[in-house]
Amino acid sequence: MADQAFVTLATNDSYARGAMVLGKSLRNHNTSKKLVVLIGPQVSEPCQAVLKRIYDELKVVDVLDSGDTAHLAMMKRPDLGVTFTKLHCWTLTHYTKCVFMDADTMVVSNIDELFDREELSAAPDPGWPDCFNSGVFVFRPSVETHGKLLAFCTEHGSFDGGDQGVLNGFFSDWATADISKHLPFIYNLSSIAIYTYLPAFKQYGGNAKVVHFLGKTKPWSYTFDPKAKRISGNVHEAATHPSFLLDWWTLYAGSIVPMLHQQYGDQPFHSGCVEGESQSANPQQELELQMSSEERKEKWEQGQADYMGQDSFDNIKRKLDTFLK
Ligand code: UDP
Ligand code: GLC
Ligand code: MN
Repeated sequence: MADQAFVTLATNDSYARGAMVLGKSLRNHNTSKKLVVLIGPQVSEPCQAVLKRIYDELKVVDVLDSGDTAHLAMMKRPDLGVTFTKLHCWTLTHYTKCVFMDADTMVVSNIDELFDREELSAAPDPGWPDCFNSGVFVFRPSVETHGKLLAFCTEHGSFDGGDQGVLNGFFSDWATADISKHLPFIYNLSSIAIYTYLPAFKQYGGNAKVVHFLGKTKPWSYTFDPKAKRISGNVHEAATHPSFLLDWWTLYAGSIVPMLHQQYGDQPFHSGCVEGESQSANPQQELELQMSSEERKEKWEQGQADYMGQDSFDNIKRKLDTFLK
C-alpha cells in the first residue's frame, strides 16, 4: 500500500549502516510497504547514496537534542538526547499509517501485519514492562500530534532524556487501556531477555520477527571476518545473542558492503570487515579470560550474567558440583 510506510532514523554514518541493514532485511522479506529513512545532515554522501538505493524516500531532518544530560546519565547513554529527532516521524503526513523502527533493529520475517494495529502500538520495554519500548511502534502521522508531542517535551521533558520517556509520558494509558496495542515481544526482541529469562528465550526466541540490538554496544561496534564468519570485539559488553549478531553481519557484509564500495570508489572507508587477521582459535574465550573475577561479580550483581559464556549453565553446574562434593 502506497500510503503506509516503515520509517527509521539515522543521524550519523554508524546508525546509517544499521538503517541499511534494516531496510535490506525488510526488502528481503518482501514487504509491500514503502520504506522511509530520516537522516541528519551529518550523514555522508556515499552513505546517503546507499540509503537511496534501499529506501523509497530519504528525508533530511533537523537533529533535535533533549540536552538532558542528567536523565541520560542515569541510563549511561549520554548519546541518546538526539533520539528526540524521532518525533519528526509524525510529520510524514503523506502516509496514513507507519511503523517506526530503530536503526538497530532487523527483521527476520515479514511483519506487514503490524499495519493492522492502531496508534500507539508497541511492545513492552524489557526493563520496565509497564512502559513500551520505542524501538518499534505503530503510529499515524499527524501535524496535530506532532505539535502536541513537541509541546509535551517543552512542558514535561523526558524522564529518560530520550524519546522513549516522552512517548510513554504522552501515550500514558498504553499499559492499561487497550491490550491490542501491546505488540508481542517477538516484534521487538532484545537479547536482554537472555540474561533476565533464559528459559523463555529458549522457548520463544526462535519465533522472533524483529531483533533489536538495544544497548550501548551495537552490531557495528564489532569487526567481522567474512571468510571465517567470525565476529570480534569487546565481548565483555556483549548483550546480544551471537546468532542474531552473525545474521546482521552476514547481511551487512554480503549486501551492504559491496554497495558502500561502489559509492566510496577509491576513497578509503571503514567497513568493519577485516579479512584473514590472525586470531586465536577461540577469541571470545580469550577475551573473556581477561575479565577479572571482581568485574564478573559486579556484572553478575547487575543482572548481566554471561549465560552464553563463562556463566553458562554448564559452568555454573560444574561449580555447584564441586561445592557439593
Ligand atoms: N539514533 C541516531 N543517532 C544517534 C543515536 C540514536 O540516529 O546518535 C537513532 C537510531 O535510529 C537509533 C534510535 O535513535 O536506533 C534509538 O537509539 P538506540 O537504538 O541507540 O537506543 P537503544 O535502543 O539502544 O536504547
Ligand atoms: C530506549 C529505546 C530507544 C530510545 C531510547 C531513548 O531504550 O530502545 O528506542 O530511543 O530508549 O529514549
Ligand atoms: Mn535501539
